[in-house]
Order: sequence, then C-alpha cells, then structure tokens
Amino acid sequence: MPIKSRIRTIPHYPHEGIMFRDVTTLLKDAVGLRTTIQEIVNRYRTSNIDKVVGIESRGFIIGAPVAYALGVGFVPVRKPGKLPAETMGCDYQLEYGSDRIEIHTDAIRKGERILLVDDLIATGGTMEAAVKLIQEMGGEIIECCFVVDLPEVGGRARLEKQGQKVFALCQFE
Ligand code: PRP
Ligand code: ADE
Ligand code: MG
Repeated sequence: MPIKSRIRTIPHYPHEGIMFRDVTTLLKDAVGLRTTIQEIVNRYRTSNIDKVVGIESRGFIIGAPVAYALGVGFVPVRKPGKLPAETMGCDYQLEYGSDRIEIHTDAIRKGERILLVDDLIATGGTMEAAVKLIQEMGGEIIECCFVVDLPEVGGRARLEKQGQKVFALCQFE
C-alpha cells in the first residue's frame, strides 16, 4: 500500500478550512514507517550527507531514523527555550499562527553537508527558517526532504525560488 494512502486527513483541524494531513496513521503502521524511512534513506545513501537536521516535533520522528540508517549524526531544530546551550533562532509564520525555531550554535560546522527533514511542507515558513539558520552557520544544504508536500499552499515553490532543492514522498492537492 502506498505511503499516501496511510496518511489520515482531518478536516477543519486545528482551524476551520485546514485539511490536516495526519502522519500518525502512517507512523503507527509497521510497513508504513519502514517504507517511509527506507525510501528517504535510499535517496540519500550516496549523497555524502554529514548530518541530518530535523525540525521539532514531527521532523524528529522522521529525521532521527534517517540519520541512524545513513550512519550520520542528528541535529534537532527546536521550539524556543528548549535547547540548553548557546542558540541562534529565527521567527516565522505558520499556515496557522506564528512561531520561532532555534538551533545550538555549535551543532553544525562550516561546510558540512546537511539534509533537512520535516514531516510536511505547507507554506514553507518553518523550513525557510531552518534553511536560514543552517546557512548562517555555513552548512551546505543538500536538500529539504518531506514526507508530505501540499503544493497548493506554495511552500515548495517558495523554497525552490530561494535556490533550495525540495523532495517529498507524496503530495496532497
Ligand atoms: C507543522 C509540520 C511542519 C510545519 C509545516 O509543524 O510538522 O513542521 O507545520 O508548515 P509550514 O510549511 O507552513 O511552515 P507544527 O509547527 O504544527 O508543529 P509540530 O511538528 O510540533 O506538530
Ligand atoms: N502543518 C501545516 N499545515 C498542515 C496541514 N495541513 N496538515 C498537517 N500539518 C500541517
Ligand atoms: Mg512540525
């Protein structure tokens, strides 16, 4: 069964008009989880990735097993106030509301080849903020990788316009 068919849609969550694409139904399925991670890992196996960066919180669930399988380290990008050492941060707008993400300033060295991972791209605001942080640190972003793309919301086009490569396992119109 393809990945897309294991993702549940909840209409009007968390707000009227939002079609929430719920990956928990994919993650709880043993074959679904394994297929998801394997497909991502297969894509980057020969990309000489140095680190996987995952975005709190759903990006952790996908990013950490990808890093493990690639045999590289995992770096968390977190919501504000969660990281204990020195951080740098970036504010951004969501499809619903606004937020901020932070990363440890010593998490990435200049020139490291970074794979950025999240579960889903909607407006692209979250990933754009993560891209800015990695770029400020001198990391080389190989690709921004997602399980789900919502192309009509425009995030992929927004990132591509900024010169980023974007990959998603499936799309919902
Ligand atoms: C969701 C999703 C992505 C982001 C996508 O995270 O997991 O990270 O929104 O939206 P965007 O492309 O418009 O920025 P959310 O901030 O809801 O938090 P969570 O991962 O902790 O559930
Ligand atoms: N994050 C932002 N928009 C979303 C959506 N439509 N479904 C799930 N997560 C999201
Ligand atoms: Mg998220």
